[in-house]
Amino acid sequence: MARALRPVIAGNWKMHGTLASARALAAAVRAGAEAAETRAEVVVCPPHPHLSAVAEVLSGGPVALGAQDCHALPAGAHTGDVSAAMLADCGCRHVILGHSERRAEHHETDGIVRGKALAALEAGLTPILCVGETAAERAAGLAEEVVVVQLAGSLPERFCADGGILAYEPVWAIGSGRTPTEAEIAAMHAAIRRALEARFGEAGKATRILYGGSVKPGNAAAILRLPEVNGALVGGASLEAEAFLAILRAAP
Ligand code: PGA
Repeated sequence: MARALRPVIAGNWKMHGTLASARALAAAVRAGAEAAETRAEVVVCPPHPHLSAVAEVLSGGPVALGAQDCHALPAGAHTGDVSAAMLADCGCRHVILGHSERRAEHHETDGIVRGKALAALEAGLTPILCVGETAAERAAGLAEEVVVVQLAGSLPERFCADGGILAYEPVWAIGSGRTPTEAEIAAMHAAIRRALEARFGEAGKATRILYGGSVKPGNAAAILRLPEVNGALVGGASLEAEAFLAILRAAP
């Protein structure tokens, strides 16, 4: 087991909310994080149009701002996209990359995710880079192999040395209310750690590996105390301040 890494509890708000609800949620998370006695790092990732407003609400507090995607290039004719530097300029410190919804809906390959991660690091952002198998891949006994291949293709060379964060998110667990067993989560996180150490050495030991996929207040404590689980990436439960804060308080 790696030395006790500082846990990360990150909320992925996906495509939900209004400017007003984003401000209110951010304010409630900030107040709760200030009151919580936690050593965890807290991050919220609103949709792009809400970033600046949420940045104002979070300014000077303990909750960091993240985005949900960025382009691999610094600028140019890319209608609808945003660059990592733009996110940093809005006050972001993190960006979720390679989420399975983007891999599926926007056909993002490992190579594309790798380019985005490099751009994020160059802009001074911390990527929260997602990997995970589908239900069919797990049923075929290929879960670890699929994830190890995703890691090899998605992580740029400087990822671990520059503090990148990983999130293991089984595709079938996202938004489904289903989670792998504790033994399955522990086995996958151990496999990810082995792959990181083999490629990145010491830096691979210090890289946080989050679990994501139907994390709720009821299962958070059990998941967060598993070996090599260094935090959680939370979707649905991050849209309610009380649920998200309960998960935060469950962090070791
Ligand atoms: P969920 O989503 O917590 O709603 O399962 C997790 C994610 O997609 O990051």
